[in-house]
Amino acid sequence: MPVAAVIGAQWGDEGKGKIVDMLAEKARYVVRFSGGDNAGHTVVNPLGEFKLRLTPSGIFYPSTISIIGNGVVLNPAVLLSEIEELNSRKVDTSRLYISDRAHLIMPYHIVIDGIEEDSLGDKAIGTTRKGIGPAYVDKVARTGIRAGDLLDKEVLRERLTPALEHKNKIITKVFGKKALSFDEIYSQYCEYADRLSPLICDTTVMLAAALDRNESILLEGAQGVLLDPDFGTYPYGTSSSPMAGNACLGSGLGPNQINHFLGVFKAFQTRVGAGPMPTELKDEIGDAIREYGQEYGTVTRRPRRCGWFDAVAARLSKRVNGFTSVAITRLDVLDKLARIKICTGYKVNGETIENFPASSAILEKCQPVYEELPGWEKPTGNIRIYKELPPKAQRYVKRLEEIIGCPSSLISVGKRREQTIVRKSIF
Ligand code: IMP
Repeated sequence: MPVAAVIGAQWGDEGKGKIVDMLAEKARYVVRFSGGDNAGHTVVNPLGEFKLRLTPSGIFYPSTISIIGNGVVLNPAVLLSEIEELNSRKVDTSRLYISDRAHLIMPYHIVIDGIEEDSLGDKAIGTTRKGIGPAYVDKVARTGIRAGDLLDKEVLRERLTPALEHKNKIITKVFGKKALSFDEIYSQYCEYADRLSPLICDTTVMLAAALDRNESILLEGAQGVLLDPDFGTYPYGTSSSPMAGNACLGSGLGPNQINHFLGVFKAFQTRVGAGPMPTELKDEIGDAIREYGQEYGTVTRRPRRCGWFDAVAARLSKRVNGFTSVAITRLDVLDKLARIKICTGYKVNGETIENFPASSAILEKCQPVYEELPGWEKPTGNIRIYKELPPKAQRYVKRLEEIIGCPSSLISVGKRREQTIVRKSIF
């Protein structure tokens, strides 16, 4: 039963898009199970470079079926423009399906996300302002509108009417902004319904049939564990769970149906948005990593905060996800550095701690304790066999494996599919 989940193990942007694209070659199904168009998955293949926000990264293989799972919040406008772009670049999207249980991002979610961020001032989360948080709030509050509601325009009207009345009260009475028009939203979403209805179905039935046929399924995570509402740097995180556990909930599979959990770690640390990041480098090394790795947000183009690999955070990530192996990405970005550091503990309030604290207030005070390794100062982008990596690069990878407590199955040394060292195949 080859079912694997790919999980972002840090603050997102670990390079999951490339890993999923690569593994998707052997997968019959690829399912996105969380997040929305806050994600930006970069895929480089013979057709060029693509920045996918909602479409699963398996879309490029003719025999792969792509599913947007129930755990995703879907902005129909973004998906439709992504489909148009893919089609204009000769990518066939006819094997794309949407779970009828996936929640929709509505215009008022985007408005509220923006207003709430503005009202937080210097305490803002630094969200992508795509309406993600407010859409998940509505899901839990039972006032959300789901993809399946697009299949019946009367149901859509019945769901939208009270939801918009309530949101307009908040927008006008609490925030003093202009109300949104029911007619405009309704007619817009009816148009989306006409275009997306053929794609919307009960995707759990498709996956159950795939399991019966023993076909391989790849579950594609978005964001990363340190943005998780439970285990991340709360409240500086996102609103859906990027964790291994949510690979089940967000796709409609049971825990015993998934047999491989691949944690994706960048060889260093990056973060976009606000919140604590103990190993952040606000110096020329941080700038060099950003420039060499072109570490800018895929969705917002914000410069990513860069720093040394944080093993304290990595141990939490391994502990709460139970990874069966890890992928280490962007190793090549460190090629030019003479010395490389790994944070193995934090100093806080006169003590050294080895476990990642739950409190962001404590994390803000944590000073990293580093061990230092020599850099390999040689290019690795053309290497495909582990033993051919410079010995100092092998030593760095081995040390990461030791401190994460998990073997590596994949090492990525560049953006292109083939720039990967496969140590153990997943499918
Ligand atoms: P939201 O998901 O737009 O609500 O943003 C909440 C936090 O998660 C912000 O710090 C974002 O920068 C961060 N975030 C959301 N999606 C991603 C992602 O795909 N990669 C990295 N950070 C993300």
